[in-house]
Amino acid sequence: MATPPVPALRPAAARAARACVLTVVGARPNFVKTAPLLAALRERLPDARHVLVHTGQHYDRLMSDVFLEELRVPEPDYWLDVGSGSHAGQTARAMERLEPVMERERPDLVIVPGDVNSTLAAALVAAKLELRLAHLEAGLRSFDRTMPEEINRIVADELAEVLLLHSHEAIDNLRAEGIEDRRMWLVGNTMIDSLVAAEERFRGAQTCRRLGLRPGGYLLVTLHRPALVDGPLLPAVMRELGALARELPVVFPVHPRTRSRLGAPAPPRGVLLADPLGYVDFLSLEADAAAVLTDSGGVQEETTYLGVPCFTLRDSTERPVTVRLGTNRLLGLDPGAIAEILPALERFERPEAPPPLWDGRAAERAATVVERVLRLDRARAA
Ligand code: UD1
Ligand code: UDP
Repeated sequence: MATPPVPALRPAAARAARACVLTVVGARPNFVKTAPLLAALRERLPDARHVLVHTGQHYDRLMSDVFLEELRVPEPDYWLDVGSGSHAGQTARAMERLEPVMERERPDLVIVPGDVNSTLAAALVAAKLELRLAHLEAGLRSFDRTMPEEINRIVADELAEVLLLHSHEAIDNLRAEGIEDRRMWLVGNTMIDSLVAAEERFRGAQTCRRLGLRPGGYLLVTLHRPALVDGPLLPAVMRELGALARELPVVFPVHPRTRSRLGAPAPPRGVLLADPLGYVDFLSLEADAAAVLTDSGGVQEETTYLGVPCFTLRDSTERPVTVRLGTNRLLGLDPGAIAEILPALERFERPEAPPPLWDGRAAERAATVVERVLRLDRARAA
């Protein structure tokens, strides 16, 4: 596929005079993590150029545009239309299309969030162009290299000079890989910033009532990891959800990967399958749920902040703080364990407080770090 045209170069003099920060996003969780940082950077560095690149890894309206709108993300300067594909195909296409953009913009700093293939592609391109790289949400580890995200995180952390950490455990994870403390900045969790900013909107939304459910009277489900949905486990999950739904209704907004594996069979009685939900509606359902069943990274965090019981259908988590606090329980990669959810709910204790620095101000701290890095850089160059 041909590389899409990119907008014309800005005059070199103008580029040199102003600092430039280029941020790359591509998939649903990226938008949630990055929105508060983009806003904080624009406020903190009003004279800088802020360039936003959307790789197009996620492209359905319900996986992309709805988040840009609800999170008030500025219109991306570049849309790269990378789309779906194999890991190598998708990553390579993203790299091919990112390279001319970064070459033309020559940013002072490239920021990549999270752990998706767009993150990996952007980190590699920035490193090869010798551009300074910052990784937002650095240092998470599941210690399971069969997860594509784990590979992406390791590479992004290794290449980034500025590591923006979202919780304390990242420090030990990075040190164990030989990464120096001077690259680490513990700023907190920007995904929680987005949640805090949306609180008034989702608390009033009552999305469950629109779906015929009552607050506290349903299990919310979201599943999309290849290990769970690409193999033979998904039909067993649906059977177990059907059994649980005899006692507690289930609502399951289905990720497109999962939808393509499920096909279109009638769901079990009591299980409501829906399209992926917009951010505010999903947070509203999360906040009002009796419990959440998930394999999502972000949902483990949000339920911890909200104090809602979360059950994670995976063998590992890169967010162990959620388990330590008691909101999140790892069920293992075992559909049969879904039967443990209802009895476990009786023993659930709400934690007193979210993890440190999950306070709605992480983006502010990250913007302070970026400002400092840019100032030092420019002072050195002068
Ligand atoms: C990706 C990330 C994963 C993240 C998830 C968030 C990688 C390796 N994986 O997984 O870490 O947790 O996003 O949701 O980057 N599809 C659509 N429409 C879309 C997007 C995808 O139909 O807008 C379908 C396509 O069939 C595609 C499949 O979903 O092949 C998977 O999409 P992809 O972006 O490759 O991975 P995700 O499973 O979404
Ligand atoms: N989310 C959403 N609608 C949905 C499912 C998830 O708005 O139907 C939000 C959720 O609140 C969280 C983010 O998407 O902010 C998590 O993204 P996802 O689970 O796709 O990715 P992961 O966190 O696993 O990488």
